[in-house]
Amino acid sequence: MTQQDQNQLMETAKTIADQFKLPENGYLQKTVEEYVKQSLHGLAHQDPVGIPMLPSFVSSMPTGKEKGTFLALDLGGTNFRVCLVKLLGNSKHTIDQIKEAVNPEIMASDMKTFISHLGDRIVSFLEIYYQSFLEQCAHDPESTPELKAGFTFSFPLHQTAVNRGTLIRWTKGYSINDAVGKDILQALQQELDSRGLRLHLTAVINDTVGTLLTRSYSKPVGCGPTIIGCIFGTGTNGAYSEPLANITKLGAEELAHVAPGKDSMVINTEWGAFDNALKVIPNCKYDKLLDANTPNPGFHMFEKRVSGMFLGELLRIIMVELHDAGLLFTTNEALEALKYPSPAHAKDGKTQNALRVPWSMNTAVPATLDGESNNNNNNNNNNNDDFTHSRKIMYEHLGFEPNQDELAALSVIACAIGKRAAYLSAVPLAGAVLHSRALERFDTIDVGADGSVIEHYPRFQEMIFEALEQTELGSKGVARITMGIAKDGSGVGAALCALEAEGCL
Ligand code: BGC
Repeated sequence: MTQQDQNQLMETAKTIADQFKLPENGYLQKTVEEYVKQSLHGLAHQDPVGIPMLPSFVSSMPTGKEKGTFLALDLGGTNFRVCLVKLLGNSKHTIDQIKEAVNPEIMASDMKTFISHLGDRIVSFLEIYYQSFLEQCAHDPESTPELKAGFTFSFPLHQTAVNRGTLIRWTKGYSINDAVGKDILQALQQELDSRGLRLHLTAVINDTVGTLLTRSYSKPVGCGPTIIGCIFGTGTNGAYSEPLANITKLGAEELAHVAPGKDSMVINTEWGAFDNALKVIPNCKYDKLLDANTPNPGFHMFEKRVSGMFLGELLRIIMVELHDAGLLFTTNEALEALKYPSPAHAKDGKTQNALRVPWSMNTAVPATLDGESNNNNNNNNNNNDDFTHSRKIMYEHLGFEPNQDELAALSVIACAIGKRAAYLSAVPLAGAVLHSRALERFDTIDVGADGSVIEHYPRFQEMIFEALEQTELGSKGVARITMGIAKDGSGVGAALCALEAEGCL
């Protein structure tokens, strides 16, 4: 690469990175206010394009003393897990589980294939971990005690009770069209019944609700009350508890399903749908290109700027543009490798190099570039960054190792994508804290979090806190907020909600 080519690549990368910069001067606080406004609208109205603010029919928080053994099912954007969770009653649990990525064919199949696939996975789990239960179900179903199960289903459900909920729409990569409008829990119960399994699905919850319950169950002594459960993973979302009086869209029939004596309910916000109308969130050229190629264009616009399914794809789209402009991957070695499927994808039978395959670039790519770059600490691009891991992950994705200049330029873009994602993530968190006025009631408050991005994207949580300080919360407010990973959030959450459904929470 000549010095001139290097300079041109770096200059172009910086111009692209600028498109991911959020405005300054109060932008974050203004966006928080818009979030609160849109979420209040969602508590009062069923608006198909607004923030859904979905009632969960979960009204109790665990104390950490709960006990019991439950089957827990957990369907997320990437994996389906089947677990046997034992709550030990001392804020601890044990978990046996099988986890398998849901393959793209299932994600785009039909309801029958999908439900039967879930049934197969449950049977596979029982064969490994609970053969005696399977045998008893087969030989003496009448005397087999029913095993209670909770289902963490990480997609928007219109719930009318803790065990009733119809799918509003798919998000992330799913597009099983005939499942929309159907009650997933009931369909799976029928499937299990038809297989003669003595399993009783007693509750269905969102993963954010599971995370909120799990963190409340397991948080370290000394933390304030957990008021938010949030996910920054393949998708993003949050849940918090709202006084029933404020959920004015609940009708009398739905209120009849609230546990007696309760005056609040956990709301699954579905904040991924914040600002679908793009009043305040950014919408650069690359956001538009990405959205046009999603199964749900125009929906979950906030999520598409924040979560793991999208950050790698944004970078891939930009790489394609730079390559087509003759600025990136121009060596003979790169040009040759780009003719073939890359190592990580060859086994999937992909016939093209991953550069040209939408959704093939894992968010681990920008995360690794970001983590190995100095740009997040200083902007004087001295080109001395050590990109050892980036080289490796790029090789896996593309089949060749980009050179130092290319990696430096791509890392500038990766840092910009990552920083924008983390700063935007602070918006609904600040919105929920301010709206709940929790800091007026407690000295400290706690947030339970889960998901691959918050766990593995370098400095993600730190950047969220930096951004929170720029909102009305300020550094003093932020100092009173703790955040912790809710380990096994979805699995333990499913067990806790099964307990809640029994009226035992
Ligand atoms: C879904 C939410 C889920 C979130 C995190 C979003 O795409 O709509 O229901 O909580 O992803 O998994």
